[in-house]
Amino acid sequence: MKIMSGNSNLPLARAIAGYLELPLTDASVRRFADEEIFVEIHENVRGEDVFVVQPTSYPANDNLMELLIGIDALRRASAKRITAVVPYFGYARQDRKPGPRTPISAKLVANLITEAGADRVLSVDLHAGQIQGFFDIPTDNLFAAPVMAADIQARYGDESLMVVSPDVGGVVRARALAKRLDNAPLAIVDKRRDRPGQSEVMNIIGDVKDRACILIDDIIDSGGTLCNAAQALMDEGAASVTAYITHGVLSGAAVSRVSNSALKELVITDSIQATDAAKNSDRIRILTIAPLIGEAIRRIADESSVSSLFD
Ligand code: R5P
Repeated sequence: MKIMSGNSNLPLARAIAGYLELPLTDASVRRFADEEIFVEIHENVRGEDVFVVQPTSYPANDNLMELLIGIDALRRASAKRITAVVPYFGYARQDRKPGPRTPISAKLVANLITEAGADRVLSVDLHAGQIQGFFDIPTDNLFAAPVMAADIQARYGDESLMVVSPDVGGVVRARALAKRLDNAPLAIVDKRRDRPGQSEVMNIIGDVKDRACILIDDIIDSGGTLCNAAQALMDEGAASVTAYITHGVLSGAAVSRVSNSALKELVITDSIQATDAAKNSDRIRILTIAPLIGEAIRRIADESSVSSLFD
């Protein structure tokens, strides 16, 4: 088995390789003067089971091209099996046509990864579970929920918890976390705009008064969804609001938005390499999912059960 990494999240790739007690495959990713990407593998991979770690986070297009070119290099070097390990699968939010004459980019990216030569895909908290069906190759979708639940139990286990989904679409994810927290009660933030042009109203379904609310979502991007939901919960009398989000995309002014919000704490994972601003923020904490991914890789290589990781 070999673990290769692109440039998108080297610390995570190193931590996964460390968990598996393997060195990272010696490869380099370079740029030509015109910014075209060139990947070179400096060791023999013929007949190997190779896992390429590369989240397709910002800059999404460059990171995606690095992944595709890396897979192509491995295929042409006769690797036996290539698994694209994409802890954060970019373009996932474009998973349906929101209007006429628009693309389904998540499907296009799935096609590109498959066409490049991947035999399998391993991802974490795909934005929508059905994205697995966009691939015609085996796709494992891991969940960060066990890592989050352990942290919540350790930090907030003594409090009167309430798991909250920031929108109706996230209820399944929130329910799964609540189940791991001894069936904690569930609330939902229901965003409504009664008429076009009117500002959005946040209604809270569930009684959050005096509760330590745990907001859960897959992505924090601009931070708007989460910070607005946190304020609405505090306005309804919540004791505190903490957010657990798998993928800290944190674009633009998101970190300062979080710092100025009603959130007690934002907890993200290292699926995406954190910016310095995120690392230095005293309101943001990062949990590692390297052991989770490492263990899944070990099980794929051994051909043992991956789903039993979540029993
Ligand atoms: C939406 O469906 C996602 O689950 C997130 O809620 C969304 O992407 C967060 O975006 P933002 O942080 O920009 O509000």
